[in-house]
Amino acid sequence: MKLTDAQLAEFHDKGYLFLPGLFSKEEAQVLKDAARNIYASDREEVWREKSGVPRIAFAAHEYDDAHGRLGAHPRLIEPIMQILEEEVYMHQYKINAKAAFDGDIWQWHQDYGTWARDDGMPEPRAMNISVFLDEVTAANGPLLFIPGSHKKGVVEAGHDLETTSYPLWTLDRATVKQLADEGGVVAPVGEPGSVLLFHGNLVHASPPNISPWDRVIVYLSLCAVSNHITKFTRKPWIAHRDFTPIKALADDCLQELVDQAKAKTAAE
Ligand code: SIN
Ligand code: MN
Repeated sequence: MKLTDAQLAEFHDKGYLFLPGLFSKEEAQVLKDAARNIYASDREEVWREKSGVPRIAFAAHEYDDAHGRLGAHPRLIEPIMQILEEEVYMHQYKINAKAAFDGDIWQWHQDYGTWARDDGMPEPRAMNISVFLDEVTAANGPLLFIPGSHKKGVVEAGHDLETTSYPLWTLDRATVKQLADEGGVVAPVGEPGSVLLFHGNLVHASPPNISPWDRVIVYLSLCAVSNHITKFTRKPWIAHRDFTPIKALADDCLQELVDQAKAKTAAE
């Protein structure tokens, strides 16, 4: 799948691009069902909020078939290769739960800030592409972006080990106010199967989920192969050390699982 020149221009200007309905609701549901089973397991890759509900499942592309397919899906891999103009490897794969009622905040941060400081990633030649597995609304803790903030480079940040269950390099309030006064704050929302890609230096956050609905989003953090990390301080299932270029699968690789599930139901 190729982005158009207009989409590329929008990405470079705003630092993100929203692609509503890139996956079907059925494809999203197969991934959501898999996520539910993963969250119910006691794997060390599943991190929980302080309240005990799931927060993140890391590296599910390595131990779950549906997520393995998403991790090599051409609708995700090809646009990022196009933007980075190089083959990519998986730096991080996470399924963020933002659970109903108890899903906690993500403070204001830049992902490349962490990748550079903690993982020794040389350049911001890595970025996120995310897939909504639930409908994301104003009510269930959507991502908040400051458009254009990716143009500021790496902004000063402090290491927060306290606020949530996930250590994060976060921006101070004065910096966020200055950036937001300039660029505004947006919250892209949409149906399950929608895709949001964003620059590694885009300043973003998300509020708590006080609603009665989950907000599950999968994030692939893809890095240009020549830009692989040089510091190995985090667990290998958080910051991967396999720099092999991803070979994209066929476009119907998830639909195949949808069809298999339907055939199984019909046979029962
Ligand atoms: C992130 O910023 O890495 C995750 C934010 C979210 O899932 O709300
Ligand atoms: Mn982030």
